[in-house]
Amino acid sequence: MHMDHLKPIPRVELKNGDAQGPLNNPDGLVQSLLKVSKHAGPIFQFDRPRNAAIFLSSHRLVSEICDENRFDKSVSPALQNLRPFSGDGLFTSWTHEPNWKKAHHILLPAFSLKAMKNYHSMMSDIAGQLVQKWERLNAGETVDVSEDMTRLTLDTIGLCGFGYRFNSFYRTGFHPFIDSMNAVLTEAMARLVRPRKNEKGSREQEAEFGAHIQSMFNLVDRLIQDRKQLEQKEWPDDLLSHMLKSKDPETGERLDDENIRYQIMTFLIAGHETTGGMLSFALYLLCKNRRSLKAAREEADRILTSRVPSFQEVKKLKYIPMVLFETLRLWPTVPVISLYAKESEIVGGEYAIREGQELTVLLPHLHRDRTVWGEKAEEFIPERFEDMTAIPPHAFKPFGNGQRACIGQQFALHEAAMALSLLLKYFDFEHFPDYELKIKETLSWKPYGFKMKVKPRRKWT
Ligand code: HEM
Repeated sequence: MHMDHLKPIPRVELKNGDAQGPLNNPDGLVQSLLKVSKHAGPIFQFDRPRNAAIFLSSHRLVSEICDENRFDKSVSPALQNLRPFSGDGLFTSWTHEPNWKKAHHILLPAFSLKAMKNYHSMMSDIAGQLVQKWERLNAGETVDVSEDMTRLTLDTIGLCGFGYRFNSFYRTGFHPFIDSMNAVLTEAMARLVRPRKNEKGSREQEAEFGAHIQSMFNLVDRLIQDRKQLEQKEWPDDLLSHMLKSKDPETGERLDDENIRYQIMTFLIAGHETTGGMLSFALYLLCKNRRSLKAAREEADRILTSRVPSFQEVKKLKYIPMVLFETLRLWPTVPVISLYAKESEIVGGEYAIREGQELTVLLPHLHRDRTVWGEKAEEFIPERFEDMTAIPPHAFKPFGNGQRACIGQQFALHEAAMALSLLLKYFDFEHFPDYELKIKETLSWKPYGFKMKVKPRRKWT
C-alpha cells in the first residue's frame, strides 16, 4: 500500500498541566469538544493518551465510518462509566457480548410498529395528565419546559415498559429514582474528567454512587419480582412481560434476571431523557419560529378530531414529525456516537486509522455540514424533511448507526408526536424572548431554564 499521500491527523494540545485542559468542564464536555472542533476542523485528536479518540464531524468522513463491515459501535469511556448500573444492557454492551445479540433479538418485536399500538393508550394517559396539569395553572404561572417533559417521558416509559406509575405529575419534586439517576449520571460524567488515578473521586463520592445504584436496583428488582408473583395471564402487554416470556429465536434462550434488570435500567435512562430533551428543544424552536409554530398548530387542529388522539391520527401527522426531525438535526439530544475500526483503515483516502481505534462523531457538527444542508444549515426549516429520501445517507444520525441504532426510535417519535400535537391543540405558548438557550448536559442534552407561560385554547376536561 502506498502511504505517501497520507496526512497526519491534526492534534490539539491539552494545556494547563491538568488532566483534560479544555475538556475539564463536567457541565459541558461535548459542548467543549464542539468548540475545539470548530477550530481544529473535521478530524482531530488530542495529544494525550487519556483522550485517545479521534473526533469527526464532516459528512464525507462520517459516511465512511458508518460502514458496518469496517466499523462497529465502541463502548466509549463515557458508556463504560454507566456499566456499574446498566451492565451488558443493550446500550452499554459491545456487539460481541452474547447478551447484546440475545436481547436485540428478543426485544426487537417489542419496539415494532405493531407494538406501538399497544403502548398508544398508555402514552395518551400520561400525555393527558400533562394537559390537565397545564390547564389547571393559574394565569401568569410559568412552566419549566424541560422538567415537565422529563415528567412526561419518564412516566410514559415507566408505564409502557414496566406497568409502573412514577406519578410525576402528582409530586412537587421528582421521584427518588430520578434523583438517584441524576446523581449517578453526573458522577459517571465527572469520572471522565478526573485524573485517572483518582477517577472514582473521594471515598464518600464512591459510597454515594454505590448507594444510589443500589436504591435504583431495589426498585427495578421489585418490579421484576412483583410481575413474577402475578399469574402469567394477568401480565400486561409491556416490555417487562415481553422480556420475561420471550426466547431468542436463534438460540431458544431467555434473558436472565440480572440482564433484565440492566435492560430496565437502560430503558428508564435511555428512554426518557432523550425524548424529553427532544420535546423541550422542539417547543423552544417552535416558540422562536412562529411560521413553523403556525403550521404545526394548524396540523394538530386539523387532524386531532377527538379529545384523545387515536393511533391512526398520530400516524397521519406529517408536519409535526418533520418538526421533531429538524429539532434533532439542530440539537441531537444524544450528541455523540462512537465507533471503532475492526481492522487498520485509511479513512477519507488520507488518514491512517489503527485497528481498534475509537472514532467519535460530533453529531451537531455533522448535522450542520453545509455541503449537505446548505448555507441555511443553522436555520430551523422542518420542510427539509418533507422527502426523507432526498437526505443523503449518513447525513442525519440522531438515532445512531446500523444494527446498533436506537431500538426505541419509533417509540420516541410516536410518543413525542402525540404529546406535541396535544399541546399545540390545547395551548398557546408565551415564551420569554430574553431567554438565551443554555444546554444542560448529562448523558444527553436538554435546554436548561427554558420557561413558558401556557394559555388554554380549548377545554380538555
Ligand atoms: C441507542 C438516540 C429514545 C433505547 C441509541 C443511540 C442513539 C439514541 C444515538 C445509539 C447510541 C450509540 O451508538 O452509542 C435516541 C434519541 C431518542 C432515543 C435521540 C429520543 C429522541 C429512546 C427510547 C428508548 C431508547 C424511547 C427506549 C424506550 C435505546 C437503546 C439503545 C439506544 C436500548 C441501544 C440499542 C442497541 O445498541 O442495541 N439511542 N434514543 N432510546 N436507544 Fe435510543
